[in-house]
Amino acid sequence: MRHRRLFTIGAALAAAILVGATAALAGSGSGHGQFRPPPDSLRALAAPIGLRIGTAVTPFELDHPDYAQITGDQFSSVTPGNEMKWQVVEPTRGTYDWSGGDRLVSFAQQHDQLVRGHTLVWHNQLPDWLTSGVSNGTISNTDLRNLLHKHITDEVTHFRGQIWQWDVANEFFTDSNPSGINPNDFWISHLGTGVLADAFRWAHAADPHALLFFNDYNIAGEDGSNAKSDAVYAWVKTMLAQHVPIDGIGDQGHLDTQYGFPTQMTADLQRYAKLGLKVAITEADVRTFVNNATDQVPTDHLATFAQPYEFSKMLKACLAVQSCISFTVWGFGDANSWIPGFFTGEGYATIYDVNLNPKPAYMDMQEDLTLAARGAPRRGFGDEH
Ligand code: G3I
Repeated sequence: MRHRRLFTIGAALAAAILVGATAALAGSGSGHGQFRPPPDSLRALAAPIGLRIGTAVTPFELDHPDYAQITGDQFSSVTPGNEMKWQVVEPTRGTYDWSGGDRLVSFAQQHDQLVRGHTLVWHNQLPDWLTSGVSNGTISNTDLRNLLHKHITDEVTHFRGQIWQWDVANEFFTDSNPSGINPNDFWISHLGTGVLADAFRWAHAADPHALLFFNDYNIAGEDGSNAKSDAVYAWVKTMLAQHVPIDGIGDQGHLDTQYGFPTQMTADLQRYAKLGLKVAITEADVRTFVNNATDQVPTDHLATFAQPYEFSKMLKACLAVQSCISFTVWGFGDANSWIPGFFTGEGYATIYDVNLNPKPAYMDMQEDLTLAARGAPRRGFGDEH
């Protein structure tokens, strides 16, 4: 494995001490325990404190042996990048395509991984038949509500018992100060804010054992003002007072070196946790400016320090909070990252380079997890209930 060549001696020694413990613990989360990850892998190093290290996966990329090997060896949780979104699972009204999600669930079971389901209610990546039906008036608001209820019920039922955490609702808050639920959001504008609570209730009815998350970006202080976190915190408190079955808050964790690290992150995660919620970093990446989208070499050499630094700080924020049960990177290789396609001139956002060699961010994560095994609070796997 290429990543082992770069593995530091110090971390290797510490990992060797941990081998016995991690071998016993690495697979215990999902009960099978047959897959044995390398002792210096991210998943093995995180196992002693009960933290799951995850990645977004593009299921068809698992056909590539290097990609599949890293996915299995390094991660104890997987999230489909697109394959559980409505646009993909019901491209034609009434005809489901679960193939991508099923493939990933099957891979996860073979590799003793837990699955984060992503995502049930979002304004983006909706099927054309749905959005065009709404705009041409053939789908009324009553129809739309019924269709959403059916979508959530059918999808959660299809994957029932196989999903650890569901991102039930994704990206509903404005980026303004003060922030709040976006009145112009597709779902909110047609069905009102109450649809969020209903979505959680419908998901819970279909799989009472899945952990149900609200997921958004910039909700752990990344906006600088903390306005978005304040709004989500106030909203989720109201939801809990109304006994809405919401189990966790996911902060996506899309950072950019040009903005610096959000110093509020640990405190924000902690205050969600103090409400009795699980928390998770669900889509971590740290982008920076690069020479081109193919090679993704940072244009400012200081970015090669800032990028792993911010990755490490984000992981440490999660490690410091006992209720932070998973830390998921949004894809592990720069060649598969969404960043160059969405942010002009930026890239280098993941923990492996374009040739799937581990980058400094990967090594920093190894070191953080090695040290965490000696002192970070141990968390339940979160799948015990
Ligand atoms: O599948 C088609 C392909 O047939 C076509 O040839 C190609 C041409 O553009 O597009 C392909 O679809 C792309 C799809 O990803 C699958 O690769 C879409 O254009 C592209 O827009 C889509 O991007 C996804 C993005 O969500 C859409 O908003 C990214 O892969 C995915 O990583 C990203 O994930 C989101 C999370 O769900 C929520 N948080 C933000 C995060 C990043 O945007």
